Amino acid sequence: MTRPSAHREMPRVPGHWLLGSAVALQEAPHRFVAETGERHGGLARFRVLHRRLIAVTHPDYLRQVLVTRHECYERSFHYRTSRAIVGLGLITTDGPYWKMRRRQIQPAFRPEAIERVLPAAVLAAGEMFARWDAMRDGGRPIPVVSEMQTFTLTVMCRALLSEGIESESARAFGVALREGLYHVRKKNNSACPMAAWIPTGTNRALAATRRVFDSFLGPRLEQRRTAGAAERSDILENLLKARDPETGEGLPWQSLLDETKTLFAAGFETTATALAWALHCVSQHPDVAEALHAEVDTVLGGRAPVWGDLERLVYTGQIVQETLRLFPPVYTMGRVCTAPDELGGYPIRPGETLLLSVYGAHRMAEFWPDPERFDPGRFAPGKTWVRHAFLPFALGKHQCIGNTFALAEATLILAMIGKRYRLRPTVPFHIPAKAQVTLVPADEIPIHLERRP
Ligand code: HEM
Repeated sequence: MTRPSAHREMPRVPGHWLLGSAVALQEAPHRFVAETGERHGGLARFRVLHRRLIAVTHPDYLRQVLVTRHECYERSFHYRTSRAIVGLGLITTDGPYWKMRRRQIQPAFRPEAIERVLPAAVLAAGEMFARWDAMRDGGRPIPVVSEMQTFTLTVMCRALLSEGIESESARAFGVALREGLYHVRKKNNSACPMAAWIPTGTNRALAATRRVFDSFLGPRLEQRRTAGAAERSDILENLLKARDPETGEGLPWQSLLDETKTLFAAGFETTATALAWALHCVSQHPDVAEALHAEVDTVLGGRAPVWGDLERLVYTGQIVQETLRLFPPVYTMGRVCTAPDELGGYPIRPGETLLLSVYGAHRMAEFWPDPERFDPGRFAPGKTWVRHAFLPFALGKHQCIGNTFALAEATLILAMIGKRYRLRPTVPFHIPAKAQVTLVPADEIPIHLERRP
């Protein structure tokens, strides 16, 4: 890549005199940021009303911001908006406070801890299959987007709290959460976001989501904190036991609540979206489906998967990875510059906001030949790829704390579905993606199921 000489002005995207690029960004932020960066060598400035932003697409620059010069950047204002729902959690904070909490919470996500909660996913899959068989017997296709949301929320409830949640409550809770996340995005895109205490429609919706969360989780956490509550092998138990390695302090009540809400908010929709896309992709590629069936028949035979199977479900894992490349649920990440830096020879000044395009990096032909093609073979053993050109879980200090959990859950359920069903598509492969808080299919994806022998 050619680098400009130091301190030249970065390319600027011309926009409407008043709105700048607001309309394009609003319509399809994932594509706009990716294409803007790509067109200008991986980096370009643009404006949305009064806000000046920088689109960053090239993996080398993404690595610089997230890893090698991370001390010059913090999370952007976008993340603070979610505080109206989840309070001060790992995803809405940065700096020393975030560092202290991350150190405390990290052990709750060690592989041994994930292994203990994985049976929760097997249990949730059983319940889901009963529902699916009923739909299939009635000749109805499965709405995979909403089904995957119900599934991952059920898994979260079991893995975090050891609680079953019947599918109607899961749906209602999911609707409230998605509604809240919709308003987070709306507020982030607003020209003039109102302070949280002003009762605008958006602020009221955010407060309503917070109340749904608090009334669902508050009593459950309270009960588990009381002396004498039975010990469980779930993530909450690990949060209750979490101690700061330096000070020995546990999580105060408010942090326990905020971090639990954060895990729900960060973990349920992301994994659900990835799984819905994965099922869509498998249903559209008979060769991929055949290879999946062959692998799960060999590895699982007739039994349910366990943690130890994951390393043998190699091709299933490749499908998950390729899905995350093509449809990264977290399509952009926002960062603000806090200390002067230089990116690609251009100065970056404190206060400037950068939009890091995961979607763009995953589609650069230089790193991913024929990037729009769905090809799990890219991740086959022995194949190499530029590590920092693949960042569905981010890179560096803010790398997703739930990545092992998400990959294990997704691989496991994909294997279980592949073992039980053949998927028959009802829509074409190229369906539009819509950028909400995650990158979701624009419409529901109905898929017909056939039982495998
Ligand atoms: C396919 C599923 C998932 C994807 C693609 C994903 C992606 C990401 C990304 C890109 C970030 C970094 C955000 C940023 O700093 O800008 C992140 C952070 C985070 N994720 Fe995930 N995530 C997934 C699943 C999960 C799950 C299952 C959990 C929890 C159970 C979770 C919890 C978190 C938390 C708490 C953070 C903040 C980490 C920190 O800054 O310390 N995620 N995730």
